Amino acid sequence: MRTVELIIKKRQGISLESQEIEYLVQGYVNGDIPDYQMSAFCMAVFFRGMTVAETTALTKSMAFSGDTIDLSDIPGIKVDKHSTGGVADTTTLILAPLIAAAGVPVAKMSGRGLGHTGGTIDKLESIEGFQTSLTRGEFISQVKKIKLAVAGQSGNIVPADKKLYALRDVTGTVESIPLIASSIMSKKIAAGADAIILDVKAGSGAFMKNIDEAKKLAQAMVAIGKKADRKVVAVVSDMNEPLGTAIGNTLEVEEAISVLRGETTGRLLDLCLILGAQMLILAGKAKEPEEAKAILLGLIQSGKALDKFAEMVRCQGGNPLVLKDTGQLMQATNRFEMKAEQEGYLLINNAEALGYAAMLLGAGRQTKEMVIDLSVGLKLHARTGDRIKKGQPLLTIFYNKDEKLFEVRKILKEAIIVGNKPVDINPLIYEIINK
Ligand code: URA
Ligand code: CA
Repeated sequence: MRTVELIIKKRQGISLESQEIEYLVQGYVNGDIPDYQMSAFCMAVFFRGMTVAETTALTKSMAFSGDTIDLSDIPGIKVDKHSTGGVADTTTLILAPLIAAAGVPVAKMSGRGLGHTGGTIDKLESIEGFQTSLTRGEFISQVKKIKLAVAGQSGNIVPADKKLYALRDVTGTVESIPLIASSIMSKKIAAGADAIILDVKAGSGAFMKNIDEAKKLAQAMVAIGKKADRKVVAVVSDMNEPLGTAIGNTLEVEEAISVLRGETTGRLLDLCLILGAQMLILAGKAKEPEEAKAILLGLIQSGKALDKFAEMVRCQGGNPLVLKDTGQLMQATNRFEMKAEQEGYLLINNAEALGYAAMLLGAGRQTKEMVIDLSVGLKLHARTGDRIKKGQPLLTIFYNKDEKLFEVRKILKEAIIVGNKPVDINPLIYEIINK
């Protein structure tokens, strides 16, 4: 096989055979195929697309390009979850203990934040002492013991994606549905779960701004799952406004704990119940969403979900006192409250800008190497659609250094508008795809 011929074939819009795709992925990971050829190939895929068979072959070749995790020692149906990333989106911190409390083993490998979206591993590190790097053995035995572990990726999982993603990032080939779908699904398949719930975000704070594109991505991933013998359900959810009210690591852990205590309701809890219900159904613990939601709410009300979180914190070396007193989490030294300058209706017209503002304060990374400040961020006091009085607090900025405060306030003033007309609220869920 010659690489250039495969590039030309794809450029002409002809489907590739799975061996041809395997050859490209293997060759690229080994270093036999150079970046310039792989870039040309990605660009050809960008313009020509891929069939479901091709996308599945790409996903499988990528999934098995490095180490995979074997969860077969853990009894029960293992359900993994993936979110395409949003703002004030701390569903994993709530769902992992909640689902584990329902008796479903949760062996979750999570990532760090990049750009305007946060990452579960960073958030957990705002709990003093919490260890996010577990050996494979520690990870599996903890799940066997308490049904729950959340750890950072260890080992050489899906090296093909690491290399390809870095290449796509600098060659204008990120926004291709087959490339995104194979990137995400290869990592989920390598992580060893039997079933996968995908939270595909759509809107101004998401990677997919357009709802129809998000639906297409969701369908592509469900189709791959079907061909790869994994049960997959995709939920297309709104990300035009932040999901919860906290943006920033400590603040999001606080919000998650508050939801697990049953003290906070709203879109964040609602989405957790919808995703969680699908997870219980995939795991065979419930038949209908309503039945599953009732189980989950019961686990919050009885305190069992919070206890499960505490158990994980103890097992992973963290200070369990944070669950009783979130003041024990790392705190920022300064606060600035932004108030409404006029009365009217609130509209968050750019969720990404809020994530970006939190990143500028130090809550997120502009580059992978940056060190973040876990204590800083934003806390919203009002949501899209709310009726607002003049002088009413809209949000609090938590910060340690003054330098960026002026710029952050300017960004927030443009992203959060109080206008005269009532504002429509977007639905939380656009579609649930399971076939
Ligand atoms: N997230 C991923 O993991 N991969 C992509 O290609 C895009 C978003
Ligand atoms: Ca995330």
